Amino acid sequence: MELKEAYETICTYLNESEKRKLLESNLTGAFKGGVVKPIYKDLVKQHLPYIDYPFKDEMDNVFCYRQNDEKPGLNVLHFGGVYYLLDPSSAFVPNQFSKNDKTNLVLDMCAAPGGKTITYAIKHPNDLIIANEISLSRANELAKNIERMGLANVIVTCMDPQEINDSFNSIFDRILLDAPCSGSGMFCKEPKMLEDWTYDKVIKCSLIQKQLLKKAIKLCALNGEILYSTCSYSNEEDDEVIEATLDESIEIVNINSSFDTYKTKYGNILFPYIFNGEGQYVSKLRKIKGDKIDINLLKSNNVDKIEKQYVIHPLLKKLPAGLKIIKPGIKIYDNREHSKIIYDNDYKFLCPIKKVEITYEQACSFIKGSEVFLNTNYSKKEEVVVTYKDIPLGYGRIVSNKIKNLLPKGLYAPNIRL
Ligand SMILES: C[S@@+](CC[C@H](N)C(=O)[O-])C[C@H]1O[C@@H](n2cnc3c(N)ncnc32)[C@H](O)[C@@H]1O
Repeated sequence: MELKEAYETICTYLNESEKRKLLESNLTGAFKGGVVKPIYKDLVKQHLPYIDYPFKDEMDNVFCYRQNDEKPGLNVLHFGGVYYLLDPSSAFVPNQFSKNDKTNLVLDMCAAPGGKTITYAIKHPNDLIIANEISLSRANELAKNIERMGLANVIVTCMDPQEINDSFNSIFDRILLDAPCSGSGMFCKEPKMLEDWTYDKVIKCSLIQKQLLKKAIKLCALNGEILYSTCSYSNEEDDEVIEATLDESIEIVNINSSFDTYKTKYGNILFPYIFNGEGQYVSKLRKIKGDKIDINLLKSNNVDKIEKQYVIHPLLKKLPAGLKIIKPGIKIYDNREHSKIIYDNDYKFLCPIKKVEITYEQACSFIKGSEVFLNTNYSKKEEVVVTYKDIPLGYGRIVSNKIKNLLPKGLYAPNIRL
């Protein structure tokens, strides 16, 4: 199917001028973007002069650039977990929870590869996010991304969300449900999505989405919020899912953002002709009837063994049993098993060993797997954290005037750019 015909078929609710603008915005190419840890905004701009921070308010740590030959994924800062690349409209979604000042327990039901979890976790370092993914290979990819970003407030689980047991009902303050979908909002970025698109797929996704949203409503605490999103423009996967699932326990909440969106009956669509990004649908729901289980009042579990190996969020101790956890936090430094380096919530090192700062050029060769030569001769052989601009890149061992590379081979990035 041609793109024009696809939009005629799918976006029947748009008028002719809107459909034309949508088509034109697709032909001019996608905006790409990323989310940055706030303290590194200026540093990232220096390293990637082609980016912009065009968003304000809740999106002020999201950057944007036109699709081009630049490769921000091959930069030392990216390797060091300073930023995560994702579509700006995807970053919009987890920023739409209402403000509160408590420690929230958050569930991301379909979290891989991790863009929305990471956007949220950076913004809310005190909250605990359970980032769940049904597919093991994708959950492993998600865990790797969380590790690279050094986020100790995320637990990665690998489960079918329907398997989350009833002890978790009414427990979550916030739920992200970024459902699997037919992907029409990604036609621009991934032309393959257009080739593979069928109406049958829309209907199959719609059934799964309704089941997932029902489950989210059960898991959500009284006064808790759910953000339901897809990257589909099909009404069957967007407003119709909300309509079919709405009951007296739920109310729709208006999204009060300073950004323009296309308003639908129950949600908002970020079309690329309105917002610099790919297409995204999002609806915000609040639970107004039901229980609220205060997790702080639950009995504490013994997590001694995990605590010795990982930096964990205190709420992990309070979680009911039954989660299939593949990553409970960030691995603590252990000189037999080189972990990712750990920060606390203010990005201060928690790692107990010496740091050695190197230049950008040295950092590139370190990340490629080489030894780093130093101007100083050290008499003591010791294990160190190698840093660039104080950003931890990995472990090394100082031997006289060089740092032997202790990065796990699987982490080498041979294509990193100078
Ligand atoms: C749109 S993607 C999630 C993207 C993610 N939120 C992010 O921001 O990076 C949807 C995810 O749902 C998962 N999925 C597929 N079928 C599912 C099902 N039946 N139940 C739950 N998750 C499913 C997919 O493996 C995929 O990772």
